[in-house]
Amino acid sequence: MQSSRVWRWPWPGLLPTALLLLAVAGVNCQETGNHPDWPRWCGKVYQPGYPSFDPGGQTVPPTPVAGAPLLNIQFKPRYSLYLDSEKQAEFIVDAGLSQFHGQPLWTSNTTFPGRANKNTLTFSIQLVENDTVLVADTVAVNSTGSLFAVDLSRLTPSLSPIQVILRGAPAGNNGNQTWTATSSLLYLPEKSNGSVTKIDNLHGGLLFRNAASPGGRFEPLLAYGFFSSYDGFLGTNNSTAAIQHYADLGLNAMTPLTIYRDSAAAFAYMDGINLKFMYDLREGYKNLTHVREQALAARDAEAIFAYWSADEPDGWQDPFAQPVAAYDLLHELDPYHPVAVVLNCQNYHFAEYSAGADILMADVYPIGINATWSKWGTACNATLGDCGCDNCSGAGVRDVPARLDDLANYERWLGLWPKTKMHCPQSFHGEGYWGRDPTPDEEYAMTALALNHGAQGLVSWVYPTSEVLGEAHGAMARVVTAAPVVEFLVGGDRPHRVDVEGGVVDAAYWVVGGRVLVCVVNGGYVDVGGRVEVPVPVAGGMSIAGTPWGNVKWRLEGGKLVVDVLPALATSLVILEVV
Ligand SMILES: *[C@@H]1O[C@H](CO)[C@@H](O)[C@H](O)[C@H]1NC(C)=O
Ligand SMILES: *[C@@H]1O[C@H](CO)[C@@H](O)[C@H](O)[C@H]1NC(C)=O
Ligand SMILES: *[C@@H]1O[C@H](CO)[C@@H](O)[C@H](O)[C@H]1NC(C)=O
Ligand SMILES: *[C@@H]1O[C@H](CO)[C@@H](O)[C@H](O)[C@H]1NC(C)=O
Ligand SMILES: *[C@@H]1O[C@H](CO)[C@@H](O)[C@H](O)[C@H]1NC(C)=O
Ligand SMILES: *[C@@H]1O[C@H](CO)[C@@H](O)[C@H](O)[C@H]1NC(C)=O
Ligand SMILES: *[C@@H]1O[C@H](CO)[C@@H](O)[C@H](O)[C@H]1NC(C)=O
Ligand SMILES: *[C@@H]1O[C@H](CO)[C@@H](O)[C@H](O)[C@H]1NC(C)=O
Ligand SMILES: *[C@@H]1O[C@H](CO)[C@@H](O)[C@H](O)[C@H]1NC(C)=O
Ligand SMILES: *[C@@H]1O[C@H](CO)[C@@H](O)[C@H](O)[C@H]1NC(C)=O
Ligand SMILES: *[C@@H]1O[C@H](CO)[C@@H](O)[C@H](O)[C@H]1NC(C)=O
Repeated sequence: MQSSRVWRWPWPGLLPTALLLLAVAGVNCQETGNHPDWPRWCGKVYQPGYPSFDPGGQTVPPTPVAGAPLLNIQFKPRYSLYLDSEKQAEFIVDAGLSQFHGQPLWTSNTTFPGRANKNTLTFSIQLVENDTVLVADTVAVNSTGSLFAVDLSRLTPSLSPIQVILRGAPAGNNGNQTWTATSSLLYLPEKSNGSVTKIDNLHGGLLFRNAASPGGRFEPLLAYGFFSSYDGFLGTNNSTAAIQHYADLGLNAMTPLTIYRDSAAAFAYMDGINLKFMYDLREGYKNLTHVREQALAARDAEAIFAYWSADEPDGWQDPFAQPVAAYDLLHELDPYHPVAVVLNCQNYHFAEYSAGADILMADVYPIGINATWSKWGTACNATLGDCGCDNCSGAGVRDVPARLDDLANYERWLGLWPKTKMHCPQSFHGEGYWGRDPTPDEEYAMTALALNHGAQGLVSWVYPTSEVLGEAHGAMARVVTAAPVVEFLVGGDRPHRVDVEGGVVDAAYWVVGGRVLVCVVNGGYVDVGGRVEVPVPVAGGMSIAGTPWGNVKWRLEGGKLVVDVLPALATSLVILEVV
């Protein structure tokens, strides 16, 4: 990330003519995109003296297919892995209608004899290997998220994924039109030591279990912490006291910028206090010998919850195959933990750079930037320049949700199953891109906006930061990583967005078991007055049961949360229930 991004081009004095000579020698020919021999970021040249050009690699909305609506059958196991101590798995079956993906719903040849029901699909899910039927059932056309149970005692645990196929046909049409889709199920031997992390493929969150988990149960994990430096923190000989101080702030996770060889005592301390960590492979993720060595060192740790392979591979224009190669090796050596990739670019080869990830982290550092003119002395726009926050608007905190929406749109446009998202908050300044640190209020607003737009983890760049920002992160982490809030953000469904009049006010809600969590953010830098109304899904008898975060004094009036003035950058979490 930034520490590595400082190093961009080893010969800053070289002029384009000299660059062309180097190009002949093959410099940077491993990079993707256009003009790979020029210094670029996100596919764009950023130094003066080069012409602007189309960087390529944009993901664009698909054009509707003739014959739409299409029936888009997709399925996945509910969780990314099951253990042989578990008795039952589930499959999620989506039978959604799409303008872009799938096969035409019913063709002119489809017959519906007798009792045929064209609104229902009859399907089976079978093992590819030997046709064992795991599920035989029906699902409504134009429905998503239906769950079907599987008795795991019929399968043999294995370290490799079990390939499965779904075959479906309109109920009673005599098999004239069929749909197929493939997926895989991970049913692993129980792990005798260390941790296990599952991804909830329905709602996106992580579930974590280690020796410290009460009753040996998986618990929702909303990881909230910092990328953490070796220099001046983990590499000091008093690092355990400093790690304890970090945990005492209220943070529950860390992404240490170091490896076992250099910091074994620090990792052992994190295991001991159950401070979850994401293990950093970025410096050597293209070197599979390094990846192997590190995975073998880390995979049985108590506190590991994920690996982090590529750092901004899209920014660096890394070869597309590299993150995938690291991913495949990590899953082979350790199928018990997911792999995360950090993306920096707003729209550069999303499909390729997200392919090697279970978790996508978004680097959006919008505070204190000049979004239109860079320190290098060029303009920044869709075809030129690097202003520290790719194609950001300069609207401050609101660039964060915009980027998370972009990533979700690319997945939708490409017909991909959505991956778990994490946001990387900004908690630094400098390097000629970022004129100042965010304020605590901006920090809270960026985090709350990220949650509203689907983030389920926060990894902030970078610790040590100022004490005030460390405390601000800890204060919010204490609330959103713990019950009751985490039961909504990770244990519950995905955020339902709420339209609020006035533009900059952003709201979403989550529902679990008849209770509702509402998160409201003023994403603007001025107070919003004249009565702010947030429509919420209240059932009879519901009222405000608690305000876990924020000082805004909401009233519940006629199915709306109401306040007369919502201060600039205000953030609130409100829980509604029958009291
Ligand atoms: C309908 O069936 C005919 C004859 O089997 C075939 O040639 C044609 O492609 C089918 N049309 C569609 C839309 O599937
Ligand atoms: C599919 O479902 C949506 C929402 O549930 C509904 O608005 C739409 O009309 C349905 N489409 C068809 C073709 O039934
Ligand atoms: C089918 O394959 C699965 C996975 O290898 C195995 O667990 C199961 O016993 C097999 N069933 C039959 C009937 O061969
Ligand atoms: C398809 O429809 C025709 C006409 O109803 C029927 O004769 C035939 O058995 C059906 N099934 C297949 C697999 O072609
Ligand atoms: C964890 O368990 C595995 C399998 O039993 C074993 O090979 C490995 O050495 C253990 N690791 C540690 C750190 O105890
Ligand atoms: C920390 O390391 C320095 C240099 O190695 C040493 O002088 C100092 O005594 C150490 N302090 C502690 C508390 O171990
Ligand atoms: C170690 O760090 C803690 C907290 O950061 C500090 O209070 C303590 O004095 C330090 N001890 C040494 C020996 O440096
Ligand atoms: C790859 O990693 C291995 C193991 O850490 C190391 O010995 C080797 O020098 C690395 N290769 C390169 C090209 O950096
Ligand atoms: C960005 O930099 C340009 C050139 O120095 C300057 O004209 C412009 O006012 C700056 N914009 C902001 C928002 O600082
Ligand atoms: C970006 O800025 C450069 C330099 O001003 C200009 O030539 C180019 O057309 C701009 N690109 C876009 C997409 O506006
Ligand atoms: C840059 O962002 C603007 C909106 O802020 C968007 O219209 C444009 O498409 C983006 N550029 C690219 C290359 O996606």
